[in-house]
Amino acid sequence: MLTEKMEAAINAQINAEIYSSYLYMSMATWFDAEALPGMAHWMRVQAQEEMTHAFKFYNYINERGGRVVLSAIDGPATEWDSPLAVFQAVAEHEAKVTGLINGLMDLALEIRDHASSSFLQWFIDEQVEEESSAADTVGKMKLAQDNPSALLMLDKDLAARVFNPPVWLVI
Ligand code: FEO
Repeated sequence: MLTEKMEAAINAQINAEIYSSYLYMSMATWFDAEALPGMAHWMRVQAQEEMTHAFKFYNYINERGGRVVLSAIDGPATEWDSPLAVFQAVAEHEAKVTGLINGLMDLALEIRDHASSSFLQWFIDEQVEEESSAADTVGKMKLAQDNPSALLMLDKDLAARVFNPPVWLVI
């Protein structure tokens, strides 16, 4: 059984993951409007991945006999100055999410909730990947930003991203 404190903290994280999905969907709309369909696609895949994170937490609360409680999602930003600014915002956002996941792990360790700390390890590892992927794209974007043909090539590269739903995901 989850403690009330851990249940509330994970419910808050479900909200944060759905907000992440909403933010990336908003970034997708910006790229659609800028005629960069590959980047828009990359963001939609990212948005789908964030929903799988939300459902991973959702399933975990249920498995531990808790109650999932959903709350209002804040509105995302809708405007950015450049493709580079969007990916910089992704990197900043992922660093923030890493802080939230670390906070959950701190709580699990503090209250000696070993099941939760084992469950959260997946997210700790996932955040390393998320931050590294964002930093990698920011680096490429810096190189391409003043060169339209390089930007279009990068757009084509990012169009190749595929969403692989995890086998446990049933929505
Ligand atoms: Fe769910 Fe991008 O972290």
